[in-house]
Amino acid sequence: SHSIIFDTDPGVDDAQAIAIALRHPEIELLGLTTTYGNVDVTTATHNALLLAQLAGRDDVPVAQGAAGPLVKARHPAPAHIHGANGLGDIDLPEVTGRADPRSAAQFIVDTVDERPGEVTLVAVGPVGNLAAALQLDPTLIDKVKRVVIMGGSIREGGNVTPVAEANMFNDPDAASRVLTAGWPLTLVGLDVTHRCVLSESHMARIAAGQGELGRVLADSYAFYRDFYREFLGIDGCCPHDSCALAWLLRPELFTTAPGHLNVVTRGEAEGQTVFAPEGRTFIAPRWSQTPLVEACLEVDGDAVVEWIADTL
Ligand code: BDR
Ligand code: CA
Repeated sequence: SHSIIFDTDPGVDDAQAIAIALRHPEIELLGLTTTYGNVDVTTATHNALLLAQLAGRDDVPVAQGAAGPLVKARHPAPAHIHGANGLGDIDLPEVTGRADPRSAAQFIVDTVDERPGEVTLVAVGPVGNLAAALQLDPTLIDKVKRVVIMGGSIREGGNVTPVAEANMFNDPDAASRVLTAGWPLTLVGLDVTHRCVLSESHMARIAAGQGELGRVLADSYAFYRDFYREFLGIDGCCPHDSCALAWLLRPELFTTAPGHLNVVTRGEAEGQTVFAPEGRTFIAPRWSQTPLVEACLEVDGDAVVEWIADTL
């Protein structure tokens, strides 16, 4: 079983992933930490509290984090692909719980300190909270079990620009620090998430199983699906953030490769992840100087969406 902190910017696909993290018997969810990204951070926190409440899990702490990127001047506005409220602009019930008084970064540091070597950080939004936690405690790199990040793209190209994936694009400076920090890290990027398409029929199964939480997931999905249909011409949508959990629980469905990874932080290509497979030599030596990480390259997409629907 996996003890995780789930760092998120809910977000329709985040909401599905949060529901998995709250429900899966092999996941011990130590807390949800929130960041700006799909929505502003206050809305992200509100949504995280709401989803925990609807799952009957208001015991799970929610700690609020980054309100914007590390380098503030480049603040991109949320694109509202997930609706202004992050959950497809559907009507939502009242939230009764409150956030943990600590910042997301402090919560991460404290929680990992209590369980050294045992906690996996799963981050599915811009990674400013992980960068801030590293700044608070650089020894975190030796204390976490693993870091799993939904973001970036090795060969697939981007979704915000031709080269940049949204979570990397929204805070490339934080992403560069986090990806090169030297902790055990797995990148679950568009190369695999774009191979996973959650259809209407999967969603109907999910909605049927979960009461009010199922309704929120299904209704918000409808909004996200319309975006996929109009902009990408796909019938169904990519459950990006759930794929990070699928990798953690069902790694045999993925093909990964070791390599050196960084993010472009300035200029036309900002937010692009650049991956140099282990063993490849380059004339410029700096590529072999970043620590090794692991990147997902291929996936059995049908099996992953089945796993998501079964889990929910
Ligand atoms: C990522 O961007 C966000 O919009 C999604 O929630 C996901 O984390 C996909 O590029
Ligand atoms: Ca997300």
